[in-house]
Amino acid sequence: MKKKIVVPLILLLSSHTIMADAINDMFTQYQQQGVSNASEQTGKTLWNKKFTDKKTGKDRSCTSCHGVDLTKVGKHVRTGKKINPMAPSVNKKSLTDVKNIKKWFKRNCKWTLGRECSAQEQADILTYLKNQ
Ligand code: HEC
Repeated sequence: MKKKIVVPLILLLSSHTIMADAINDMFTQYQQQGVSNASEQTGKTLWNKKFTDKKTGKDRSCTSCHGVDLTKVGKHVRTGKKINPMAPSVNKKSLTDVKNIKKWFKRNCKWTLGRECSAQEQADILTYLKNQ
């Protein structure tokens, strides 16, 4: 089994860019909710994990719309609309707005998992996303 790398949240606070500002804000909020560290590997696993929708019996995952390769344009599974790449390495606007991050976490976790993501889950996912 692969060793899980867990990084203390404080070490994730990154250098001064707009993306880092929003992400630092989010990490600070997660810390206030009791999260002390985050794991990129756990975030990646969660990102790719399939959840079964109770009503339709169909699988749903974050990749349903965003795709597996976050440097590529995604496609909304229901509307077919394109979604800008999530990877900050190719999309400078990605993960730069706290309100936006919160709004979509809430909406997308509810749709995908059937519930909101916990602070720990969000911290893990965000750690994975920000490094793409
Ligand atoms: C049904 C389609 C769909 C699914 C499934 C989905 N998303 Fe999204 N997500 C979107 C759309 C659309 C946006 C807005 C993209 C934009 O503004 O360009 C978005 C944006 C986001 C953002 C904000 C990005 C930013 O730059 O601020 C985050 C964070 C996010 N999604 C996380 C997730 C997570 C975590 C999952 C799985 C639990 C997930 N999404 C699953 C459609 C989806």
